[in-house]
Amino acid sequence: MNILVTGGAGYIGSHTCLELLQQDYGVIVIDNLCNSNPESLRRVEQLTGKTVKFYEGDVRDEGLLERIFGENEIHCVIHFAGLKAVGESVSLPWKYYDNNLNSTLVLTKVMEKVGMKKLIFSSSATVYTADNEMPLREESRTGGCTNPYGWTKYMTEQILSGMAVADKDWSVCLLRYFNPIGAHESGRIGEDPRGIPNNLMPYITQVAVGRRAELSVYGNDYDTPDGTGVRDYIHVVDLAKGHVAAVRYVLENTGCDVFNLGTGSGYSVLDMVNTFCAVNNVAVPYRITDRRPGDIATCYADPAKSAEKLGWKAEKTLSDMCRDAWNWQKNNPLGYNEQ
Ligand code: NAD
Ligand code: UFG
Repeated sequence: MNILVTGGAGYIGSHTCLELLQQDYGVIVIDNLCNSNPESLRRVEQLTGKTVKFYEGDVRDEGLLERIFGENEIHCVIHFAGLKAVGESVSLPWKYYDNNLNSTLVLTKVMEKVGMKKLIFSSSATVYTADNEMPLREESRTGGCTNPYGWTKYMTEQILSGMAVADKDWSVCLLRYFNPIGAHESGRIGEDPRGIPNNLMPYITQVAVGRRAELSVYGNDYDTPDGTGVRDYIHVVDLAKGHVAAVRYVLENTGCDVFNLGTGSGYSVLDMVNTFCAVNNVAVPYRITDRRPGDIATCYADPAKSAEKLGWKAEKTLSDMCRDAWNWQKNNPLGYNEQ
């Protein structure tokens, strides 16, 4: 079985390629490297002793996609390729709508043409409205996004579910990720953000390794146990395994299904800092600052549907996530650019 992985050189994509290869799937990647380094796939090959067939290019390039489907027998597509920086999407909305929507439209157009209609899409917990009760279930309210990035995820869900209603041959999984962190336990692949990290864990690891002076904790006056924001952090290897489960599911089913990929537990910013320091025996100086616009107090998943239908459950602990994030950062202080 061969899986086409769009955006496979990226953070979640590279970890998923590794899990797929370990489960004996053939892996074909298309990535334009706009936010990644091909070194990630070289290391995936080293770790697994298997080969990834790599096409450097844009998912919006219809001709290239036709070539890829012509040259390979593909049984399922996992579509990670997309831009993901929330703040940047506010200042560059067209870029986000163009990249994230047109990549899906071109991809599904070519998939229809070749008659291969099994697709897994990277959605996000950001599609849920802020007024939901926790934990978030797949039926919780969606929409009302606060930034173009979130709207691209919401709109893509609408596009794909509409296509599956109209054509019963489609089999689509919409996977709503919560907060992926950590790295493969080898410390050879991990998250390598460009510039100043937007997200909490890469910021913590860059402070710990001395690349940044201190962490800003965005507000301690939320209605949470310690006043800082609470999120559902999930180990990226658990998340990658969720995709392998979703591949099995789309191969056996038709229609469009949506699944939360989270642990079901929420941790605060200070829980994260304290656990990271204790597990790794390092210091992370921090300062409480104003809230970050657009942030909500609390967000965590009900992962019961994924357990029941995908047969998948996150297994790694917060300590595992903190240990593996640090193992990656300390072995690769400058990310993939080091070599
Ligand atoms: P990433 O930036 O590391 O990976 C995305 C990859 O897609 C990169 O390698 C990039 O070069 C590639 N890419 C982007 N646009 C492309 C295009 N038009 N053609 C070809 N390649 C293209 O991000 P990630 O964290 O691995 O996220 C993967 C997916 O999961 C994204 O769709 C993201 O929106 C979604 N997601 C991520 C998170 C998170 O916190 N990391 C949370 C929810 C959803
Ligand atoms: N935080 C800090 N300091 C930082 C960075 C983050 O205190 O330097 C706090 C945030 O305020 C929040 C928590 O840490 O309370 C987590 O923030 P992240 O930026 O790591 O994650 P978010 O939950 O804000 O965003 C993530 C993804 C988005 C996605 C969103 C919705 O990065 O792509 O989840 O699920 F849209």
